[in-house]
Amino acid sequence: MGMTEKEVGMTEKIEIATLPSVTRNDSIKNDIRGRIAMRPHFLHATRYSILDTIQRGKKVLKGKKILLGVTGSIAAYKAAEIVSLLKKKGAEVFVIMTESATKFIQPLTFSTLSENSTLDNLFSTNDKIVVKHISLAQWADLILIAPATANIVGKIAHGIADDMLTTTVMASKAKVIFAPAMNKNMISNPLYQQNVEKLSALGYEFIDSEYGRLACGETGKGRLANIEDIVDTVEYALTFKNDFQGKTVLVTASCTREPIDKVRFISNYSSGKMGFALAKIARVRGARVILITGPTSLPVPTGITTISIESAEEMKKEVFKYFSEADIIISAAAVADFRPKEVFAGKIKKEKSKNPLIELERTPDILYELGKKKGDKILVGFAAETENLAANALKKLKEKKLDLIVANDISAKEAGFGSDKNRARLINSKGTAQELSLMPKIDMAEKILDEIIKIK
Ligand SMILES: Cc1cc2nc3c(=O)[nH]c(=O)nc-3n(C[C@H](O)[C@H](O)[C@H](O)COP(=O)(O)O)c2cc1C
Repeated sequence: MGMTEKEVGMTEKIEIATLPSVTRNDSIKNDIRGRIAMRPHFLHATRYSILDTIQRGKKVLKGKKILLGVTGSIAAYKAAEIVSLLKKKGAEVFVIMTESATKFIQPLTFSTLSENSTLDNLFSTNDKIVVKHISLAQWADLILIAPATANIVGKIAHGIADDMLTTTVMASKAKVIFAPAMNKNMISNPLYQQNVEKLSALGYEFIDSEYGRLACGETGKGRLANIEDIVDTVEYALTFKNDFQGKTVLVTASCTREPIDKVRFISNYSSGKMGFALAKIARVRGARVILITGPTSLPVPTGITTISIESAEEMKKEVFKYFSEADIIISAAAVADFRPKEVFAGKIKKEKSKNPLIELERTPDILYELGKKKGDKILVGFAAETENLAANALKKLKEKKLDLIVANDISAKEAGFGSDKNRARLINSKGTAQELSLMPKIDMAEKILDEIIKIK
């Protein structure tokens, strides 16, 4: 089962720990796909695939100018699909091929797909393209080199400008992203690694290559990253603010289940959609995200540390386990307020207990305890109310020492638990309120994060 299809189990306790870090200094732990630890400066190829769930099918790259450099790798043919996908998303694309690349695939393919002439010769006698390397260098919003050979990485790392592609990169101030593809020994060669280090330190970015069977017949690391992931990376770089970079955001989501006996529990209708939307948007805006979720049918978002819990007690344990790492805590989970005082060991048999009485007790008030400990962390809560929305939300904001509260009228039509849309009132610690009209939860997540980033 692919990672994105994996669902959070109801009883299974999984910690999907691999947060490819946004900050370069963070170390990256075990990777969910079982790949070996990545170097911190590599972008995780799958970290952006959550974009798909956010802006699938939209012409999100309309008006964006992308220069695609294709180099002499056996994977050069895959660049044709990259051009198609970029065009589909509305981007304008120019392709520059190295001379070696033209041995693998014809320029005509790229000219046809990009609807622009493909450039491969710096010293063309065609007047129109003689200074193209300068005009394209200034034209591009982003330069993507995919596939990138060890050779191109080495040349750019050493300031060599001896063909159309290297000269254009040298003359451009645009962001440059490499998607390397090469033999496993080439990739692990210290010379190549030093070149990557050097370029990374200068702000060039790398999309990690994948494991698998390589063209040379060996198996190892070196395959070009998945095409969709490469395109997502470009999309991310061109369309999202990176305003949460360097921040760790802890989000709680969904409901909790408080057991009555072996087969029954007390819970609520929270689906996790709002919390998951917040986690995804925080992630694409550059945050490291830890998502602690109760039972949900939502797929585990890629690139997010996702921890599955069941009860309020487990939620509390996990929240405080990660508390010290978080700069921002968004408590979007609808944690049960009450639980059965005693949990029956087996199944309560209907024949034996006709009208069983279940005594309830309070569950831990996680938000209150977070408020007491918060220090300079930003704490955001949700108030799901059916009456006196504003007054109850304000009371909660004060009692729990929140910086922001998102107040929902869960009795409202089309909004609230389980719905894809939400309507809310944001109230900050000064008591200033902002009405958010009915909108998709993913858009509301953007608005909530816009407010959070303004705090302090
Ligand atoms: C069949 C074949 C496949 C190759 N595949 C790769 C590759 O995937 N990655 C790589 O770094 N070099 C590969 N090379 C070597 C490059 O083509 C060679 O280093 C060339 O000088 C790269 O030129 P360029 O970077 O200007 O495109 C391959 C060579 C051949 C003959």
